[in-house]
Amino acid sequence: MKKNHILSFTLSGHGFSGAVCTDGIITYATSLERITRIKNDILFPISKADLETFGWKADPKTYMEQLDFEFDMQKDYSTVDIAKVEKFQLLLNYLLDVAEITLEDVDCVVYSYRHNEIVRKFFKEKNPNIKFIVPEHHFSHACQAFLPSPFDDAAIMVVDGQGVPMVRTGGDQLSGSLSYGKGIEIETLWEFPVRYSLGGMYAEFTKKLGFKTNQEGKTMGLAAYGTSAIYDEIKKELKFEELDFDFRKVFKKGLGFHNALYKLPDYGNYLKQFENKKKEEEYTQTHKDLAYAVQKLTEDVMVYLANWLYEKTGSKNLCISGGVGLNCVANYQVLSRSKFDNIFIHPNAGDNGLVVGQALYVYNILNKNPRVYVDTHDYLGKQYSETEVDAAIDKFKDNDSISIQKCESLPVLYDTMAKAIADGYITSWCQGGSEFGPRALGNRSILADPRRADMKDILNSRVKFRESFRPFTPSVLAERSSEFFELDIESPFMLLAPYVKPGKGELVPAITHADNTARVQTVTRDVNERYYDLIKAFEKLTGIPMVLDTSYNVADEPIVETPEDAIRCFLSTDIDILGIDRYILRKKAKFNV
Ligand SMILES: [Fe+2]
Repeated sequence: MKKNHILSFTLSGHGFSGAVCTDGIITYATSLERITRIKNDILFPISKADLETFGWKADPKTYMEQLDFEFDMQKDYSTVDIAKVEKFQLLLNYLLDVAEITLEDVDCVVYSYRHNEIVRKFFKEKNPNIKFIVPEHHFSHACQAFLPSPFDDAAIMVVDGQGVPMVRTGGDQLSGSLSYGKGIEIETLWEFPVRYSLGGMYAEFTKKLGFKTNQEGKTMGLAAYGTSAIYDEIKKELKFEELDFDFRKVFKKGLGFHNALYKLPDYGNYLKQFENKKKEEEYTQTHKDLAYAVQKLTEDVMVYLANWLYEKTGSKNLCISGGVGLNCVANYQVLSRSKFDNIFIHPNAGDNGLVVGQALYVYNILNKNPRVYVDTHDYLGKQYSETEVDAAIDKFKDNDSISIQKCESLPVLYDTMAKAIADGYITSWCQGGSEFGPRALGNRSILADPRRADMKDILNSRVKFRESFRPFTPSVLAERSSEFFELDIESPFMLLAPYVKPGKGELVPAITHADNTARVQTVTRDVNERYYDLIKAFEKLTGIPMVLDTSYNVADEPIVETPEDAIRCFLSTDIDILGIDRYILRKKAKFNV
């Protein structure tokens, strides 16, 4: 029987991503940045037409100054021939190649957002039978949070910066929603206007701290060093429930909800007293306190919304998506301070992961098919064959600075790499398909010894060149996670930051953050056999069931994708040893070989 193929694309300020859904299973997904090697790469610069679409009426210069996007006010990209746009073809062909299909096989393209018409035209010309669907942003987020979750029913929290202007709200945008999912139905319970955007608030504080768009994670890292001085001052203005505030005054046409569930402080006004931090400036206590304040305000609102959802839905399960869902510190607070027993946070919670929600929206909700996909792993990139890895290795065989060893068995690979980690070497690891989301989860990772207190500085000074206040993360064998962390459920996507248990932080100082938390990834053998066996080999040597894991890239570059990318990154940095498929590549100078 012919298989059902859905292609899903999302174009947002955070990137351009795509996924293939075959018979209800998400088989592949990636983002353009991994192919072009340009972080957060998008199809076109922001144009005049985009500003109009978004209802942004101020002088374009304001946006150019505020947003770290590429702008081009001269050209009208809404009329270009997308067939000739190379970046579009790159992502489309990547997906068709990995799925081994052609456009003739595709039943539906689901797409959002910007320049819908030129994309629709392209696909219709290639295959008139293709259905073309443009879903709502926040409903797609709700689908992304719930439909791939392991739960039959769940409360759903979507929290992000902003969506897309909609007809039904009179052109206003949402910044979040609360809903309840059961089976293949999702009922929206509440929606939030952009005015109370948690993502928007976080972005404003992030900018004040001198970071760029998409660098909210840095603010989250800095928050651990702050005091509550600023938070105490502004949290008085944070209000919850039954406020005398009519949504219909915010939405031009109104959504029919009378009261706001929360009202944020007037942070815009408050922040005016501070200058944006300059690059060369040191981080002051005020900067750290600002980071602390926005982190705590975000946590307070998310915990409140979670409790509201718990009361309204009666479900024991909570699903989260939207860019704010990448805030692993807030997610853990939600889990520990609400009554939910289980939590699922989409591994690519932000807009790039919308492609998953969109595809499942079509398959499960529009086409009424039962849910058959559970997002147990995030390794949705292309799997490179042995021949492809051999070919990549072959390109570097004449490089005198490295030695290349092909392991006769996988245990040799694991034992050798585990020993290198335990001996203090900086290692990298490239296996299987790449992670779709922003976290390296053991297929494109730089790995090091979590026991060494100086490892954070070593990694920063030799390879990563990140700000010293940002923590590194542990990948821990799932069955031993609760010995070290205040966590009694799995955290497969590194989206929960539990406290490190008393007495354990000293054992693994390189992954314990200043506030005594760690951004934990729990690893099970059924999800990632090679990564599990590697950590197991390290445990055998040291007694410690975890490794330090950071993404396989250098600052401001996307995570490596192809075996060749992995080798080039290894050669161009001060990484000592690389485990790639069955090969081990060593820098001769580091190993005296
Ligand atoms: Fe979003």
